[in-house]
Amino acid sequence: MIRVPEVIERKRDGGELADEEISELVLGYSRGDVPDYQMAAWCMAVFFRGLNGRETHALTDAMVRSGDTLDLGAALGRRVVDKHSTGGVGDKTSIAVAPIVAACGVPVGKMSGRGLAHSGGTLDKLESIPGMRVELSIDAFIEQVRDIGLAIVGQTDDLVPADKKIYALRDVTATVDINPLIASSIMSKKIATGAGAVVLDVKVGDGAHGKRTLDEGRVLGEQMIDLGRRAGLEVVCLLTDMDQPLGAAVGNALEIREAVDTIGGKGPPDFTELVVDACARLLALSDLEIDVEEGRRRTEAAIADGSATAAYERWIRAQGGDPDVSVLPAAPVVREVLAPRAGIVSRLGALAVGVAALELGGGRRTKEDEIDHAVGVVCHAKRGAAVGQGDVLAEVHARDEQSAERGTAAVLAAYELDDEVPREHGILLDVIS
Ligand code: URA
Repeated sequence: MIRVPEVIERKRDGGELADEEISELVLGYSRGDVPDYQMAAWCMAVFFRGLNGRETHALTDAMVRSGDTLDLGAALGRRVVDKHSTGGVGDKTSIAVAPIVAACGVPVGKMSGRGLAHSGGTLDKLESIPGMRVELSIDAFIEQVRDIGLAIVGQTDDLVPADKKIYALRDVTATVDINPLIASSIMSKKIATGAGAVVLDVKVGDGAHGKRTLDEGRVLGEQMIDLGRRAGLEVVCLLTDMDQPLGAAVGNALEIREAVDTIGGKGPPDFTELVVDACARLLALSDLEIDVEEGRRRTEAAIADGSATAAYERWIRAQGGDPDVSVLPAAPVVREVLAPRAGIVSRLGALAVGVAALELGGGRRTKEDEIDHAVGVVCHAKRGAAVGQGDVLAEVHARDEQSAERGTAAVLAAYELDDEVPREHGILLDVIS
């Protein structure tokens, strides 16, 4: 048996841990034998000291072994594809990508996460849909992917329970922004569900965890590609811009509306660009034997002919939800954020908008916090937009007048107006595989 304080101390002092020590710690925590305070201290030690490649692999492996695993590909007799993002502000990509890919005839079985620090989580967003269940048994998960080609679920007490617990702990102990914990969290979920191929979306910039730069993003991407390869997965990693929020909507129910619009071909340009690119690459990794260009063509066709919307509705109904966006919760107070002067938006800080949405009640401060699914921010003016004095930059959706007031000030502070057009680049910064 390991002595947990000694394991924490060695990592705190910059030492290496043996595979068995990491395994015992993770499995002990998952069973409830190691308390939250010791695991939180260990995560903080890792935050400062890091884990080497071997330790990161041991951590990922222990997380996978903390529960059951399944081989979706073998169960369906098809190559199942999956996608995952490192977490960003306004990042509802999976909710749009999954039904589009399913509509193109490729099965998607995905395990997602909840909000982490200032970035929202797919599960929290989905739970803003009345009736939606994200905790399915393994059998129900497989059955649903077989029946309708698509399921998105959370980590459960059966599937990667260690990630479920560590993820919730990291969210509230300032231990999100560290590569080995991000890489093991993401890849353990991918490995445990048995997808054949994964598209990863590593966020780069102000709203990425740790304000990761492009070079730091490449390092994280390569770590995850390595973990995936060791487990026999084909992995492609996109590096995408998170300097400003993705799309317009930030906040759980607001993001569901925007995802639905995008699936129907009426989404914001930057978000649509990312969704189409991710879908095209997932189709190219599938067993359809097509290239990315053909994947793009089929993606655009599924959006245009309504089959992607039909797949979304089938999916939401299969998990008990109501796909009609008019039943989504709406915040009682909506305030406009007005431009104090005429100019061009030269900056819209993703982190500041993400924190504003969290402060409005859209995220958690403690593990026990309830999320307010209705609140959030809609950024109407994005980088490069020309605005006149008094034009609407954004909307704040709040529970009450007081939080609306605070939210409006915070969102206004996230904007910078200039007289020159900023140098623009697309959402996709690089691709590694
Ligand atoms: N997504 C995850 O599943 N885990 C992380 O640590 C970050 C993003």
